[in-house]
Amino acid sequence: MKLAVIGTGYVGLVSGVCFALRGNEVICVDYDESKIEKLKRAESPIYEPGIEELIEQNLAERRLEFTTDLEGAVRRSDIVIIAVGTPSLPNGEANLHYIEQAAAAVGQAMNTHKIVMTKSTVPVGTNEKIREVIARHTQYAFDIVSAPEFLREGSAISDTLQPDRIIIGIDNPALHETMVKLHEVFTSNIYVTDVRSAEMIKYASNAFLATKISFINEIANICEKVGADVTNVAEGMGMDKRIGSSFLQAGIGYGGSCFPKDTNALIQIAGNVDYEFKLLKSVVEVNSDQRYMIIAKLRESLGQLHGVPVGIWGLSFKPNTDDIRESPALEIIGTLIQEGAIVKVHDPIAMDKFKAEMDHPSIHWCATPEEAATGSDAVCLLTDWEAYKQVDLHRLGALLRKPVLIDGRNVFSEQQIAESGLEYYSVGRPRMGGLSGMSPSVAGAV
Ligand SMILES: NC(=O)c1ccc[n+]([C@@H]2O[C@H](COP(=O)([O-])OP(=O)(O)OC[C@H]3O[C@@H](n4cnc5c(N)ncnc54)[C@H](O)[C@@H]3O)[C@@H](O)[C@H]2O)c1
Repeated sequence: MKLAVIGTGYVGLVSGVCFALRGNEVICVDYDESKIEKLKRAESPIYEPGIEELIEQNLAERRLEFTTDLEGAVRRSDIVIIAVGTPSLPNGEANLHYIEQAAAAVGQAMNTHKIVMTKSTVPVGTNEKIREVIARHTQYAFDIVSAPEFLREGSAISDTLQPDRIIIGIDNPALHETMVKLHEVFTSNIYVTDVRSAEMIKYASNAFLATKISFINEIANICEKVGADVTNVAEGMGMDKRIGSSFLQAGIGYGGSCFPKDTNALIQIAGNVDYEFKLLKSVVEVNSDQRYMIIAKLRESLGQLHGVPVGIWGLSFKPNTDDIRESPALEIIGTLIQEGAIVKVHDPIAMDKFKAEMDHPSIHWCATPEEAATGSDAVCLLTDWEAYKQVDLHRLGALLRKPVLIDGRNVFSEQQIAESGLEYYSVGRPRMGGLSGMSPSVAGAV
């Protein structure tokens, strides 16, 4: 099939590349010329493992093109996929400006019947608005489809090529066959429903996953007080098939471009129809409190932080991505700077993006995790990159001025810490070794 994909961000680029890999002719469009220039050279503007190899392969096999010419791309395609951003407005609602702009441009470009499929996460009723916007700009017949995206940054390619399920929302039953044909190359687990339900499935899914995270974080906070170990609790809970083990890792909470914005948007969607989504409001509140545990434990261990050098490991909101949107690191580092700390940061991939968002004379940019630790009074692990799990903890103790490790992702085992001699704080694990802790300080002997 001939597809145009509008927006070459994490979703549009990965979807476009994967549709091309499965034999479709795909034209990826973005109005950001610098992104398109890079993509034409098979350079990815985003960090996503494996994406550049697939871009190169599909460009070479002539199934994939990149352009800023939206009109030409729409005219040459049967299906137009909208994958532009839907960031939050200050009140939490989804900003539909980019969606409406793209829909208007699609309408203006139409030269024959098209199927317009929305992959962006949009509030219930938005696809109907998209229909109205397009109709204002064209005389040609068209259909709309809601196909919300569930990929995760860092594993976006395998999530797209082998998804758990694909959700398709249609109001015209005649589209059923085409939509199944387009998507069955990825999975036979395709759930076709109405447009509004498809839109809601996306928000409900993200809200549920965010709820699991805040739930286990609250359990972790209680575990610290009652002397239980949240990692054991989560393992035991997860063995129950009704609960499942995923999204039960306690830590400093979720971030990223989806959960924070989608939970706030769903609270607004409910509010707009006079429904107070009390549970989800609490989920958001728990999440925003959780990241401050890092600051609380630093204060507990070091006292006041003015003039204190603190190492930070990890700036992206999770490993294997350069995405720093709503990353806990932004608020944690912002607070440390306010308190007068000297912040020595490291991230394997996201340093440039973070620097573009937050630069300050108190931030020192370090080339290695060891450099961030050297001479610091503590190291705080905020993102569970594999590189940090590989650090020699004995050596870490020698590099630090005070041997304090605050592990916001429960990366290290009790045994590793016991052998390291570090003063260790993690999330929701029992106090050990006589040190006070966020937790579970596992200190010296276990
Ligand atoms: N990032 C994720 O992990 C993820 C996962 C599932 C769903 N989503 C949803 O998918 C959507 C896209 O997310 P993303 O992370 O890929 O966004 P992004 O910000 O990384 O990319 C959006 C791209 O669209 C381009 N764009 C915007 N308006 C345009 C227009 N009118 N014409 C051409 N290009 C235009 C921008 O230049 C940008 O490159 C959002 O609604 C998001 O909630 C994201």
